[in-house]
Amino acid sequence: MNKCEDVRFTELKKRIDKIKHKKGAPIICLQEAQTIFGYLCFEILEFISIEIKISVQKLYEVASYYPQFKLSLPAKHKISVCLGTACYVRGAGEVLDSVKRVLGICEGESSKDDYFSLDTVRCLGCCSLAPVMMIDEQFFPNVQAEKVEKIIRDFKDSHPS
Ligand code: FES
Repeated sequence: MNKCEDVRFTELKKRIDKIKHKKGAPIICLQEAQTIFGYLCFEILEFISIEIKISVQKLYEVASYYPQFKLSLPAKHKISVCLGTACYVRGAGEVLDSVKRVLGICEGESSKDDYFSLDTVRCLGCCSLAPVMMIDEQFFPNVQAEKVEKIIRDFKDSHPS
């Protein structure tokens, strides 16, 4: 990311200039940056740090504390595992563990190739088909933990990029 040529930094500076003396400025600046860039990398935190004179470390602590902030590029595809009561009692915990193991990531993280991200949800509104998971808008009912690897592999095969 070249800060000199990237007009998004110009836009961010404009927004920061309007808010940097307000109460809660660090969080508001992080929110504005995420709106513009979609995530917060070191370069963006460093830019904000210089503009509002707060250490990158402090900004990183704030950004990593609140789940609303993404510290890496959003992945291409989002996996959501339902941990609502109906799904949980029917094995959603094992399904989640299986996704974590297959992708080598935890909730809220993206795979190294930024292909998948992993999140949990509280109910997808179809409890009779529990346990359920989604990949983007595609719904997977009655998921068994031992089938997760195949689901992920098949999805990748049918969505190569
Ligand atoms: S609890 Fe999972 S769909 Fe309702």
